[in-house]
Amino acid sequence: MHNGTEKMVVVGFGWVGQANALALNILGYNVSYFDPGEPPQHYPLHAGVYEGVEKLSDITSRDSEKTWYIVCVGDRVSEDGVQDISNIKRALDSLKGIQGGVILRSTILPDLLEDLSFDYYMPEFLHEKKAVEECVSPYLFVLGSRKGARAEPSVFGLWRTHARKDFHGTPQEASFIKYLSNLWNSLRIAFVNEFGDSIGRPSTKEELARISDIIDFLFDHRSYMRYGKAFGGHCLPKDTRAFAGWYNKDPKRIPLIAGMYESNARHQKMEKEFPLLPEWYSQWPDRHISGWQALRELWYAIRKNTRPAKLLRRIGRQK
Ligand SMILES: NC(=O)c1ccc[n+]([C@@H]2O[C@H](COP(=O)([O-])OP(=O)(O)OC[C@H]3O[C@@H](n4cnc5c(N)ncnc54)[C@H](O)[C@@H]3O)[C@@H](O)[C@H]2O)c1
Repeated sequence: MHNGTEKMVVVGFGWVGQANALALNILGYNVSYFDPGEPPQHYPLHAGVYEGVEKLSDITSRDSEKTWYIVCVGDRVSEDGVQDISNIKRALDSLKGIQGGVILRSTILPDLLEDLSFDYYMPEFLHEKKAVEECVSPYLFVLGSRKGARAEPSVFGLWRTHARKDFHGTPQEASFIKYLSNLWNSLRIAFVNEFGDSIGRPSTKEELARISDIIDFLFDHRSYMRYGKAFGGHCLPKDTRAFAGWYNKDPKRIPLIAGMYESNARHQKMEKEFPLLPEWYSQWPDRHISGWQALRELWYAIRKNTRPAKLLRRIGRQK
């Protein structure tokens, strides 16, 4: 149920922070953000919604028992796979002693979550091209909490209703799901490209089509399984390196996962030589809404005092 007195403060206003802030604003929440930098607006199609999200100069100026801090600060990963979460720690430290609750959304290795202080760990699974829409209506709802966590914010109820899949476990388990998702994407892309590179050299349209026909015959043009450019962007290379760097140590050893980054890096070098290689994007599939789920959504909308058609029109206008 939407609670009109809740205040949402997004900490870290990059890709993930902006998607969360805009989505929460669209869902009717009072939203502000704190970021020591001046990040550019990443979602120009939603330019109007930014006006409803105020920048705070003091991170705790909206603090109360009804305030939720949504921490979306970025991690960094060195070339040899060491994850640096110092900016995230700094942000969490600046929230010590607050009355409100903390939802952590940054991607953090399972073992590194142990020492951090937060109420809920909720990794983000959005794709940058459809980030705001996917944040209004997430495909996956993955929540990690510790024993004795405070009562959930109302938006969890809304997100659960929208989500295709709903997982609740420990913060570490939630983080493993996040890495499983990203690594599975990396693995498929690296495998298909490595296999395609063994078939031929895509220097002409004809040769590219020959390689693609072989791959597509078996994989039917499915996402992450199409021959093309290496995986890039903000997350897949960094998260693949971090996971391999942490877990590829004796006695665990994960040679298959550890090889993905090297395979992708080799293919990346080829891209300059073969500019015809296409770039593929992906997004979560459109939701199929069952009759039961539609009824649940209607029930939430009534309790939230928002007509579903009004909400959908509002989202539609932002597209
Ligand atoms: N970009 C994606 O598509 C995506 C998807 C899922 C998960 N993630 C994860 O979410 C996290 C954030 O990713 P992003 O792409 O939004 O990063 P980003 O670099 O775009 O944004 C991070 C923001 O945090 C701010 N920041 C740094 N230190 C801060 C502090 N102490 N207090 C407040 N703000 C601070 C920075 O100024 C920056 O604007 C990462 O862990 C990333 O792996 C990203």
